[in-house]
Amino acid sequence: MIALGADHGGFYLKEAIIEYLKEKKIDYIDHGCFSEDSVDYAIYAKKVADDVACGKCEKGILCCGTGIGISIAANKVKGIRAAVVTNEFCAEMTRRHNDANILAMGGRVIDAETAVKLTDIFLNTEFEGGRHERRIAQIAQIEEGTL
Ligand code: RB5
Repeated sequence: MIALGADHGGFYLKEAIIEYLKEKKIDYIDHGCFSEDSVDYAIYAKKVADDVACGKCEKGILCCGTGIGISIAANKVKGIRAAVVTNEFCAEMTRRHNDANILAMGGRVIDAETAVKLTDIFLNTEFEGGRHERRIAQIAQIEEGTL
């Protein structure tokens, strides 16, 4: 199950990603927004991040104008590793090395076709583990105040 969220700046990317998920028969929860009317991205970041953090959804995808604000907000939720991605290399590496559990993209930065391609890479690339496990654990230690 994939959790989706966007503000008005990322709305059209989210809609394109939904078409991709339907085509691939991948289940999703759409937390909105549901139009290009102006809204506040932190609301949607929190809904998606909570679904991922509690295990209801294995991954999340968030879109705003740049991908930045919505990822900053999502990263405030414990256990979330949200990465802003603009190209295929970063989409692959943030899974392989960072075990990112939320992909963030910007509707004013990339087009819908690119967003779908990056989504496909993000959802189909495994975490490498190994030395990267230690680094992910250190990120968790920052959350716990033990690093
Ligand atoms: C909204 O205008 C815009 O600030 C938002 O979508 C996002 O780009 C923030 O990081």
